Amino acid sequence: MLAVCRRTEKLVGSVDISGSKNAALPVLSACLLTDDKCVIRNMPDLEDVRIMFALLRKMGKTVKFENNRAEVTGQLRHGALPEKLVRKLRASVLVMGPVLARLKEGSFALPGGCALGERPIDIHLLGLKAMGAAYSILRGRMIFKRNVLKGAHIKFSFPSVGATENLLLAAAAASGRTVIENASVEPEIADLCLFLKAMGADITRTGSVYTVKGKARLGGADFAVMPDRIEAGTFILAAASVGGSARVDSANPSHLGALLSKLRAAGVKISQKENSVTVNSPKKIKPVNIVTGPYPAFPTDLQPLWAVCMMRASGRSQIRDKIFPARFMYVDELKRLGASMVLKNAVLRINTSRLSGTNIYACDLRAAAAMIIAGLMAEGETRVYELKHLFRGYENFFGKLRKLGANVSMERIREEK
Ligand code: UD1
Repeated sequence: MLAVCRRTEKLVGSVDISGSKNAALPVLSACLLTDDKCVIRNMPDLEDVRIMFALLRKMGKTVKFENNRAEVTGQLRHGALPEKLVRKLRASVLVMGPVLARLKEGSFALPGGCALGERPIDIHLLGLKAMGAAYSILRGRMIFKRNVLKGAHIKFSFPSVGATENLLLAAAAASGRTVIENASVEPEIADLCLFLKAMGADITRTGSVYTVKGKARLGGADFAVMPDRIEAGTFILAAASVGGSARVDSANPSHLGALLSKLRAAGVKISQKENSVTVNSPKKIKPVNIVTGPYPAFPTDLQPLWAVCMMRASGRSQIRDKIFPARFMYVDELKRLGASMVLKNAVLRINTSRLSGTNIYACDLRAAAAMIIAGLMAEGETRVYELKHLFRGYENFFGKLRKLGANVSMERIREEK
C-alpha cells in the first residue's frame, strides 16, 4: 500500500486517540504471569499488537480480540520464541521476564538491529542474570536456564524503557525483593505497574527507583490501556505543521508536557483540558530546538514529526536525539520533497523549506507518519511508499487524518509498467 497526499490548507475538527501501543505490548506480556483470565480494553488494533498475540498463542495462550477488547486465557506452556516473530517485533524481548519468572528455561531468537540503529539488550540481560538466570548464545538464539528466579538489587547504566519493563515483569513473580535503580519512568511503565498491581503485584516507585516484592501467585485482571501519547503528539504536530485548529480527544496532556511547552515556545496556541488538547496554529511559527531524552524530556518518537513541523518555521532550528542518535534515516527522503536540512555530527539543522510532491519511502513507523504530514504540506502530489511501517503503530491513521480534512488516501501499489 502507499499513501497519496495532496496539499491541504488546514486541519480542522477533532480526532479520538486510541490505546497506547507501547503500554499494550508489556501489558500483554504480563498476561504470561498468570493462567487466569485477563481482559484488556482500549487495546489498539495494530500490526505490532497482532504479532504479540501470535507470540502469546505460540506459547500456549488463547487470545480473543474484538472491538478493541482482548481476552487472554490459558496456560503458559512453552518458553521458546521463534525467530520469525522476534524479527517482526523488537518488543518481543519483553516476554523474557515473564517466561523466566514462570519456567525454568526459555529460548529466544536474538532480536537484531533495526532502522533506528543498533539496539542492544545488554541492560535486560544483566538484570536477568543478577536475578539468577544464566544464558548462552547458540545458533542465533539465547538459551536461558535458571534454578530460582530471585530478587536482586539492580542499577541500570542507562534508563532503558524495555529493560525496566522486563525486569518489573520478572520481579513481580520472582522470589524475594528486587530494587531497580536508575530505571525509566515513562507513563507506559506506570500503566504496566497499574496492571501488575491489579494482578496482585507489590510494586512501589520513588523517583527512578522501583521496589518490587515478588509474589508466588498473580491472578487475572480487567484493565483499560492508557491513551497513546505518541499518537496524540502525532496529531497535535500534524495540526501545528499543516495549520488550522484541531482538538485531540482521549489524550492525556500531562503526558505531553515537553511537546506542548516546545509548541508554545514556537508560537502555537495550545489549550488543554483533562482529556484533550486543542491546537491553533498561527500563520508563522518560530524555530525551536529540541533534544530528546528519557521521560519527561522530549520523546524520541516525536522527533521526526518535530523536524517536519520546523520546516515551516521562520528560521533555523536543530534536533539532537540522545536516545537513538542515528534516528535520521528519514532526512534523505524529506530532502526529495525539498526539505532544507543538514545532518552533521548527529545534529539535524532544519531551515525553512518549500516542499513539492514526489515519491518517497518510509523507513520506520514514526518516519512514515512524518512523511505523510510532510506530503500534506507539499505542493502537488506526494506518494509515500512502504506503509507497512505505519500500520505497525497507528490505528485508522488515514480515517483520522481525513476526519480533520486532510487530502490523503491509500492506494494499492500497481506493478510498474
Ligand atoms: C521503547 C519504545 C520506543 C521508544 C523508546 C525510547 C516500546 C515498545 N518501544 O523502546 O518506541 O522510542 O522506548 O523512548 O515501548 N539500550 C541499551 N541496552 C539495552 C536497552 C537499551 O544500550 O539493553 C539503549 C538503546 O539502544 C537506546 C536507549 O538505550 O539507545 C533507549 O532504549 P530503550 O529505552 O530500551 O527503548 P525500547 O524499550 O527499545
